[in-house]
Amino acid sequence: MPAIVVLGAQWGDEGKGKATDLLATTDPIDYVVRTSGGHNAGHTIVVNGEKYATHLLPSGILTPGATSVIANGVVVSPEALFRELDGLVARGVEVADLKVSANAHVIASYHATIDKVTERFLGKNQIGTTGRGIGPAYADKINRVGVRIADLFDEKILTQKVEAALDVRNHLLTKVYNRRAIEVDAVVEELLSYADRLQPMVCDTSLLLNRALDAGQTVLFEGAQATMLDVDHGTYPFVTSSNPVAGGVCVGAGVGPTRIDRVVGVIKAYTTRVGSGPFPTELFDEDGVQLQQLGGEIGVSTGRTRRCGWYDAVVARYASRVNGLTELFLTKLDILGAWERIPVCVAYEIDGQRVDEMPMTQTEFHHAKPVYEFFDGWQSDISGCRSFDDLPDNAQAYVRALEEMSGAKIWGVGVGPGREQTLVVPG
Ligand code: GDP
Ligand code: IMO
Ligand code: MG
Repeated sequence: MPAIVVLGAQWGDEGKGKATDLLATTDPIDYVVRTSGGHNAGHTIVVNGEKYATHLLPSGILTPGATSVIANGVVVSPEALFRELDGLVARGVEVADLKVSANAHVIASYHATIDKVTERFLGKNQIGTTGRGIGPAYADKINRVGVRIADLFDEKILTQKVEAALDVRNHLLTKVYNRRAIEVDAVVEELLSYADRLQPMVCDTSLLLNRALDAGQTVLFEGAQATMLDVDHGTYPFVTSSNPVAGGVCVGAGVGPTRIDRVVGVIKAYTTRVGSGPFPTELFDEDGVQLQQLGGEIGVSTGRTRRCGWYDAVVARYASRVNGLTELFLTKLDILGAWERIPVCVAYEIDGQRVDEMPMTQTEFHHAKPVYEFFDGWQSDISGCRSFDDLPDNAQAYVRALEEMSGAKIWGVGVGPGREQTLVVPG
């Protein structure tokens, strides 16, 4: 199975880091690749009780023998990249080999400034971004005024590009947002300061990955963000500015769709969301507080409390469809051990009508009320289970029911954050 995509099937934080780490350690993996987003991601990996969080780096950075790749579709803050690498080294981690695409776009400090002032300007309509400059960096890319990694190695070109990028932005900052203009020289100087350290890592990552696949090597594409945060397929405008769906992997890595063998959707046994935007199964009662507390639902990147709700099978079916999922990895089943009865959203009611599939418009989605089916809980701690058969009957029945309604086979179930706390579901 040479090319495997791991991606988020909900609104992020499903456990993609754990799923990637698991796949990278159970089968020999040659490359672990990020293809979209930037350091807005926060992926947790727990190895031998030690907790690590990766943001811009692929989780493969912790896997000995695997090469980590930041491909062309990622937006790269060199400052965040080196801070993260240095942080891991300071903890004694032997970091894996890292390659960075020459075509990846750069996040400079002005992108984060613009991200934050734009959010403030939006007031109550704000997206609730991570404030990392992701949206403004992708906007520059699409507006064709972006700076790419390769530009950092030519001062003249870099200066021209930063000038072009700041031309309109500075008018906006000074005249609309009442902020000070950003100085081109200071930005160029900062970006140049990363060039020497970055240069040995930079290569044509599309060529590298296609050659690896030609040679029968295994490549794992580690998704960031998630399907419902996709700029095309998510809850626009409450989305990120990239394409975290499976199709985005091909664009973001420069590999063709015919090369992908497996597409694994990571999905929680309930649902969470950070930031603003519609969320039909969101809970505002004691159950929501309990899910948040038992699940430790606090953002890895921003420390924000995650909004919590029950499992939404409409979202799961939608994610299976738009990503062509070959399988699902269901995480955090252990968190549901406290409930006597577990609701699962099987459809929506929209303006008095039952709707079984994701509605076409965001207006309808905003009006969607969950239609629940109830499942018997198991009311016990399952974190010590090490095979699917060890699970209480009601937990097995819950997994089988979710599989039935979610549009893809569930291959694995997480019963805790550790590598060993994963159960393979018999076929
Ligand atoms: P990602 O962004 O998709 O990689 O997910 P995050 O790391 O942001 O959030 C997932 C959280 O759930 C992390 O704290 C993981 O350690 C934890 N986690 C992953 N799988 C499981 C599981 O099966 N059970 C429990 N209890 N925690 C899990
Ligand atoms: P991982 O990879 C959860 C959300 C933000 C905000 C919206 C836009 O850990 O699952 P952005 O800064 O990207 O412009 O913010 O997207 N968001 C995430 N939510 N997990 C993530 O990453 C996220 N990355 C972005 O909270 O609502
Ligand atoms: Mg996360």
